[in-house]
Amino acid sequence: MCGIIGYIGSREAVPILLNGLKKLEYRGYDSAGIAILKDNRIQIKKCKGKIVELENLLERGLPKGNAGLGHTRWATHGKPNNLNAHPHNGCNSEIVVVHNGIIENYMPLKEKLILEGHNFTSETDTEVLPHLIESNYQNDLTLAVKESIKEIEGSYAIGVISSLGPEKLVVSRCGSPLIIGVGEGEMFLASDIPALLGYTNRVIFLGEKEIATITKDGVEIIDSEGNILQKDIIKIEWDEEMTEKSGYKHFMLKEIFQETMVIRNNLEGRINLSTKTPELNDLSLPLDKIKEMERIFILACGSSYYTALAGKYILEELIGVPVEVDYSSEFRYRKLLLGKKDLTILISQSGETADTIAALKACREAGSHILGLTNVRGSTISREADSVMYIKAGPEIGVATTKAFIGQLMCLYILSLYFAQVRKTLNSSEIEKIVSELMKIPQMVEIILLEDPKIVKLSEEFYKYHNFLYLGRGINYPIALEGALKLKEISYIHAEGYTAGEMKHGPIALLDKTFPVVVIVPQDRIYAKVINNIKEVKARDTLVLAIATEGDKEIANIVDRAFFIPRTLDILYPILSVIPLQLFAYHIADKLGCDVDKPRNLAKSVTVE
Ligand code: F6R
Repeated sequence: MCGIIGYIGSREAVPILLNGLKKLEYRGYDSAGIAILKDNRIQIKKCKGKIVELENLLERGLPKGNAGLGHTRWATHGKPNNLNAHPHNGCNSEIVVVHNGIIENYMPLKEKLILEGHNFTSETDTEVLPHLIESNYQNDLTLAVKESIKEIEGSYAIGVISSLGPEKLVVSRCGSPLIIGVGEGEMFLASDIPALLGYTNRVIFLGEKEIATITKDGVEIIDSEGNILQKDIIKIEWDEEMTEKSGYKHFMLKEIFQETMVIRNNLEGRINLSTKTPELNDLSLPLDKIKEMERIFILACGSSYYTALAGKYILEELIGVPVEVDYSSEFRYRKLLLGKKDLTILISQSGETADTIAALKACREAGSHILGLTNVRGSTISREADSVMYIKAGPEIGVATTKAFIGQLMCLYILSLYFAQVRKTLNSSEIEKIVSELMKIPQMVEIILLEDPKIVKLSEEFYKYHNFLYLGRGINYPIALEGALKLKEISYIHAEGYTAGEMKHGPIALLDKTFPVVVIVPQDRIYAKVINNIKEVKARDTLVLAIATEGDKEIANIVDRAFFIPRTLDILYPILSVIPLQLFAYHIADKLGCDVDKPRNLAKSVTVE
């Protein structure tokens, strides 16, 4: 939800800001802008559209200067247009702000500022910030920001520059991410790590309501009371190559092809290869907590919610503890029935999803131990959860998640096996059997990826349909939901996910030969039931594509098309069945000419409610 970039040093700022904005474009891409500070003068260039539009604009006049801010927008207040694009300035163009988040009390603030004589030109909530800082300014930008954030409610990550004092960037955050990059004689600012990787891998994570004053030589950070804070510089292990397309047409395709690596990363160091047992030495979750757990709540949004649903099946099967799964956005407003003996697991690739962070705060108040599953070190969830398990997917740039979904599933398998070992709900040979099979999954995924040309062919046949129904049962039901979400979000084709057994209670009314059905039908313990469901579908003249198990001879006589995945244990099928569905969605969207990595109206991390 909007990306912020900042630079101060001795190099020209514009190329660095543009490069950073391209890396952050996945966060929002309906308008973009930069502000450059030089010799006590600020130049703003901004426009509607993607970063390429801003580049075109800059070709007609490139501001020179060694300090500046950039912004790529995902509109919340005010439609995408040149006026609403960031940066925004106060009345005298002396104070300029970029912002990610929502200022919830912007209306009363705006009314107050208008009475004071301020003039507003945009429809955004953000514009109150430069005016507010302007009204609080008394020769010290840091102080003015400190006083202003006391008056604002909502979420924000802000970068501020001013033409009034010495060159510096003043930044602050609350609820939205902001990272300071530490270079040699130069400093950076970004919403997310990938934007910094070409320049530095040494970062400082700014805490809630902290205010940083950044010059080219360093940074001073204070809390909201003005006390000076000493913050650690963290070294990030990701490198810039990880944030490039590396020859793939889209990040999404590269990321799907990285899934074998993600699975291996997750097994490495978490499975004892000689005993074939899970080992989670770095998980700071006390054994007593695991033993006394009475219920588990898993909270997440979007695709992460679907891995959470799969997690319910895995955990209940392996440890026999009841698991409740909820959307973070629903859970946070429900009456919380959490107890001290309940464990809460939050799943979030970005670790910055606003609703999941709000759910975390609600669970903390209820006294539940919180385990965060996230991909991003230093993210809010990684810092605020009691325990953290990293999903080890590396930077995920494609807006539609793929490899992080696989990383989340892997974490849930390993975590459940570990809980089963601690709680003794499985004996050692049962654990060994699942672990041994889990260790074969990377080769199985490689086989699926080699079959990609078959999925390309399928996409050439299916891309012309306007509606799809995805069916699955049991542990593959969440994968049907995920398959449908992947297709709709990147190709804009309507797709619904349903549990196969429920189909006859309503959705079957939709079916005819124009409405294909994709069904996940591995040869597991409910295979025969799903076959019955497929027959019900076929009786309505519907075109059926099955994701089935290699060697399943029966299926070919029942469905129209089939894609085969390797045979594995029932519980492990989701990790294999989701991959062809990701590829299917990708190739259809690509065939339709959609902007796969940046689907319309979406942003990678939803840092607003
Ligand atoms: C779909 C997708 C989203 C995210 C959701 C949660 O492809 O990527 O639905 O899964 O916005 O994001 P995280 O996991 O970062 O909390």
